[in-house]
Amino acid sequence: MADIERTEFEIPGGIPRRSGGRPQDASIDAQQQPGEAEAEVTLRPKSIEEFIGQPKVRDQLTLVLTGARKRGVVPDHVLLSGPPGLGKTTMAMIIAQELGASLRMTSGPALERAGDLAAMLSNLMEGDVLFIDEIHRIARPAEEMLYMAMEDFRIDVIVGKGPGATSIPLEIPPFTLVGATTRSGMLTGPLRDRFGFTAQMEFYDVEDLTRVVKRTARILSVPIDDDAAVEIASRSRGTPRIANRLLRRVRDFAEVHADGRITLGAANAALIVFDVDELGLDRLDRAVLDALIRGHGGGPVGVNTLAVAVGEEPATVEEVCEPYLVRAGMIARTGRGRVATATAWRHLGLEPPEGTIGDY
Ligand SMILES: Nc1ncnc2c1ncn2[C@@H]1O[C@H](COP(=O)(O)OP(=O)(O)O)[C@@H](O)[C@H]1O
Ligand SMILES: [Mg+2]
Repeated sequence: MADIERTEFEIPGGIPRRSGGRPQDASIDAQQQPGEAEAEVTLRPKSIEEFIGQPKVRDQLTLVLTGARKRGVVPDHVLLSGPPGLGKTTMAMIIAQELGASLRMTSGPALERAGDLAAMLSNLMEGDVLFIDEIHRIARPAEEMLYMAMEDFRIDVIVGKGPGATSIPLEIPPFTLVGATTRSGMLTGPLRDRFGFTAQMEFYDVEDLTRVVKRTARILSVPIDDDAAVEIASRSRGTPRIANRLLRRVRDFAEVHADGRITLGAANAALIVFDVDELGLDRLDRAVLDALIRGHGGGPVGVNTLAVAVGEEPATVEEVCEPYLVRAGMIARTGRGRVATATAWRHLGLEPPEGTIGDY
């Protein structure tokens, strides 16, 4: 499909690569990149209505928020769970917006000491929404303080050190905690139990992502053809952040190599430049498949071994790369490690050995 279009534009000889072998500035994975935050602000939907897709999460949240409003109480604490780039931060902002509340933002890694959290909590006003991103990475003492704050709107502040230390109870105004996590399995039981509502964000289908692409194009005032929007959407690995990023890259390409209009040809040619294949897999995804199949005969292989092979942190492979490869039916997680499916073998142009998972 892309081959016909390939000749339409001149493809630059290559893009600069870091020693790690990943293209500079061009990685298409779902994590937010430096400098991207600003671009994302303008693209964030501001209300539940504007939020595309995730109908189940939207319906459930609407009920939770409306119910609380009717009863005149603060809503239950909400946990948003799912891979990066699916709209967790966006949804946290929308929750505050819908409640007419102010939003305080922090993250698990920033709450290293219980004192960090105490400072945050004691500054809350009644009805505020406290957003803790990457809540699975919160340090233990802060987590324990959070239990009490979530349950009783109260904390114990320890004053002084050693034997003379005393604990002073402190009341916190009722607030709603919104936690986001890419790894809900890493949350401790007690923390998970204190959320009244857990929203599981799923990968988006092509139809919803096409709407995301068209909406973003409208906001950025970029003309785009329907088939080009579908093409970008279908290569975005079910992830709005990736859809938006691909759109920006394709826009750059269309401006440099054509008249700025995003046509199917421009989209296909740009995606070749940025190493996104027809399934939307990027270099890291393919490196993982390659390590698994060519390096380890299809597995089973532990995630740490795979991570070393591709020169990434195990957490990146596990949280950014694997969820989509699993959902695309390319790898299976087994008790003994990761296993490549027949689909993955064929995607690399190889014949799967007999007995491969998913073989037909
Ligand atoms: N449902 C959606 N509709 C439109 N855009 C979305 C949606 N979900 C996410 N986005 C866009 O994708 C980007 C990443 O979303 P974000 O909320 O930061 O993801 P997460 O916090 O899960 O990593 C944002 O710029 C946002 O505009
Ligand atoms: Mg986020």
